[in-house]
Amino acid sequence: MKSSVKVNAARVECEISPMIYGHFIENLGRCIYGGILRNERPGRIGGPWKRRGDLLDVVKELKPPVIRWPGGLYADGYDWRDGVGPREARPLRRNRYWSRFGPFTRVLDPHWFGTHEYMDFIRELNTEPYINVNFGTGTASEAARWVEYVNGTADTLEGSRRADYGEPDPWGVRYWGIGNEMYAFWTLGHSGPREYARRYLEYRQAMESVDQGLSFVAVGSDTAFSETWNREVLSVAGDQIDLLSIHIYLPGFEHQVGFTAYHLRHGSSGLYAPIVAAPLEIETRLRDAWKDVEAVMGPDTDVVIALDEWNLWWKLSQLIVPKYTLRDALFVCGTFHALHRTSEFVKMANIAQLVNIMGVLSARGPRFYRSPLYYAFRMYTTLAGPLRVSTSTQCDSFACPHLGGIRAMSDVPVLDGSATLSADGGVLTLFVINRNVSEEVEVDIEIDGFDPRGDIEVHCLDGPSAEAFNWYGRDEVVSIERSVKDAGDVLPRYRLPAHSATALVMKK
Ligand code: AHR
Ligand code: AHR
Repeated sequence: MKSSVKVNAARVECEISPMIYGHFIENLGRCIYGGILRNERPGRIGGPWKRRGDLLDVVKELKPPVIRWPGGLYADGYDWRDGVGPREARPLRRNRYWSRFGPFTRVLDPHWFGTHEYMDFIRELNTEPYINVNFGTGTASEAARWVEYVNGTADTLEGSRRADYGEPDPWGVRYWGIGNEMYAFWTLGHSGPREYARRYLEYRQAMESVDQGLSFVAVGSDTAFSETWNREVLSVAGDQIDLLSIHIYLPGFEHQVGFTAYHLRHGSSGLYAPIVAAPLEIETRLRDAWKDVEAVMGPDTDVVIALDEWNLWWKLSQLIVPKYTLRDALFVCGTFHALHRTSEFVKMANIAQLVNIMGVLSARGPRFYRSPLYYAFRMYTTLAGPLRVSTSTQCDSFACPHLGGIRAMSDVPVLDGSATLSADGGVLTLFVINRNVSEEVEVDIEIDGFDPRGDIEVHCLDGPSAEAFNWYGRDEVVSIERSVKDAGDVLPRYRLPAHSATALVMKK
C-alpha cells in the first residue's frame, strides 16, 4: 500500500493541554535519594543530601510542565510534618510503604526532601506542582493543614510556620490529589469505591475551607483493573471531582509470569510489535475511562482525566536499573499521539518516573545518563504546538500478539502521524512514527491550509537498532538528529527511517 499522511492545518480540532508531558517523582528506590539528591556522605543515610545541579540542567531541557509528588504508594503513608523544619532535625523513619520490599525500594526515609525542597525544585524548573495527600493512613484535617502550610498567608497558623522556615509568601499550589490507587489491595488504607468517594468529599471540603482555588484529583481506575470503580466513585462525588486519575503500566508488572513465558518463547525481538503497539492499548483504556465519566456525568461534564502514572513496566529490575531501548522510546512517542487524539478529555499525564525508577533519566553516584525515553520527551515538549490539527494516515498494518495487559491487535498501523500548530498558527509540526522495525517507509505528505515557506527543520529520534539503549558515558546512542532541509527535499515525499520518530517543523 502507498503510504500517505494528510494534514489539514485549517482544521484545528482541539487544544492539547501542555500538562500531558508531565512527570512524577516518588520517595521510592533511588528516585529522590540518589537521583534528584546526591548523598554527600555516601553510605550514611542521614546525608547530607544535596541536589544535583547537572541532572537539574538536563531536566530543564525537557521543559517539564508539571511534576507530581510525593507518591504514588508512598503518599498514603507520608506525614508531611516529618518533611518540614530544620533538615538535620527531621526524623529518620522507615519508609512506610516501600520498606516492605527491602533495600532496593528504600527502607529508610531521611526526610531531606520535604515540601520546601520540592517547591524549590519546582521553582527552579519553572514548572507546575501537583501534591498528592495521604488518604490511606492520614486524615482530612492533616491534609487541610498541609494546604494551609503551602498556600496559607503568613498570618495563618501553618503559613506562619512556613514563613519561619524562610518562605513568607504562599506557594499557591493548585493541583492536589486525594489518595493513590485506593482500589488496590496493595495500597495502604485501600477501600471500596463508595467509601473512598464519601471520604474524598470530606477531604475536599476540609482542604477547600483553607483555599477555594484548588483543583482536586480523585482516584479513578483503569477499567482493565476494575470495571465498576469509576462509575461508583463518580456517582457519589462526581460533581466535586476536577480530574479523575488513571494509571496504566504496560504490559504490566502484575503480568510478570505471562510476560516471562512470552519472552522465553519469542525472545527480545518478539517484544517489539506489542510494545510499539501498546499506545493503542492506552488509547482504548483512556476512552473506556472516559465512557465511565460521560455515562455518569453526561457529555457536558467538567471532569477531565489525568493519566498521572504511565510507562512500560514488566519486571522489578526496572525499579532498580531500568534499561529502556529505542523501541520503548517509540512507545513514548506513540503514547503522546494517543494523548493528542484524546486531548478533548485527557488534560494531564505524568510518566512514572523522572529518575531511576523506570527512569527517563538514570543516575548513580556522581554520574547520570539520558535514556531513550528522555529524547522522546524532549522532542515533543520542545517541538509540539498547543493545537491539534486534523491528520489522517494511510499505510500498511501489522498484527501484534497479546502480551500481558496489551491485547492482541490485528491491524496496527505502521505509521502514526500527529500534527500540531503553534498558538499563532505560524508553525506546523508534523510528527510521524515509523514502527516498521527493519524498513524505511516512503510517505506522501499532503498539507492543506498551510503554506510552508523556507527550509524545513527535521528532527529524527532513532538509533542503530530497535534494541539500542543508552548508558553511562554513552547516552547518545539513541538520540535526536536535527537537520535543516530544503522544503523540496521533504515535500511532497519523504523517507522515514526504520524504527524512528520524525518531527518536521514547518514555518509559513
Ligand atoms: O510508580 C511506581 C508505583 O506504581 C507507584 O507508587 C504506584 O502508584 C504504582 O502502583
Ligand atoms: O501495573 C501495576 C499496577 O496495575 C498499577 O499500579 C495499577 O494501576 C495497574 O492496574
